[in-house]
Amino acid sequence: MAARSQQTLDLTGYVVPTHVAIIMDGNGRWARQRGLPRQAGHRQGAENLRRIINACVEFGVKILTIYAFSTENWGRPEKEVRGLMRIFARVLDQEINDLSAQGVCLHHLGDLTGIDPKFQDKVRRAIELTKDNNTLILNVAFNYGGRAEILHAIKQILDDGVSPDDLTEDLFSSYLFTAGLPDPDLVIRTSGELRISNFLIWQAAYAEYYPAAAFWPDFGREELYKAIVAYNQRERRFGLVPEET
Ligand code: FPP
Repeated sequence: MAARSQQTLDLTGYVVPTHVAIIMDGNGRWARQRGLPRQAGHRQGAENLRRIINACVEFGVKILTIYAFSTENWGRPEKEVRGLMRIFARVLDQEINDLSAQGVCLHHLGDLTGIDPKFQDKVRRAIELTKDNNTLILNVAFNYGGRAEILHAIKQILDDGVSPDDLTEDLFSSYLFTAGLPDPDLVIRTSGELRISNFLIWQAAYAEYYPAAAFWPDFGREELYKAIVAYNQRERRFGLVPEET
């Protein structure tokens, strides 16, 4: 059967956000709507991640940060947590070579301490394999929480004996998991929820927020395109006043 041709989505004349961050929400509800187990929603969510990575490459987004698993998500039923870990491990085993060939450079945001050593190994190997790629930086926030990240940074700053007089916003940023990367321009949350949920709370201080009604498995290339178009209709002021006309 012939492959379905993709609709042309032209972003000529639009500013493409350099860094897009996504709270991938709604896998469970997507599954429930179809009478399927939650794990089916997560599997579909993982498929969709491929679509969104492809779309980011196509549209020229340089950094994609995804909220894969928060420090709070450990509180979900054990069966669901195990199912999610299986999906993450499968993606690392089976998809990392393709992602690497596509020019994806994987970063991890969060804490790997205490995580299954085999899983830690997979993450470290994937990071090593993709470290020289530069088409798209993919930050995966796993065992991540914004407050924990800030506390972690503060502890390291104290350990390093940084003097309060030398502590600037830039120096502080260099202690976060996103060190060296520009802040997100656009933060998308799918499934109609309007919460930040402890995601990039320092880095997204001036990001534009875009709530999308679609559940994550349905948030495809066209939805990302719409989010970028909407981003272009925002006036980013960074606390300043608009230019006088
Ligand atoms: C939200 O749906 C999704 C998650 C908890 C994260 C898991 C994400 C995936 C499996 C997508 C693929 C990611 C990777 C890294 C392969 P939810 O369970 O909170 O949905 P609900 O709010 O409808 O219950």
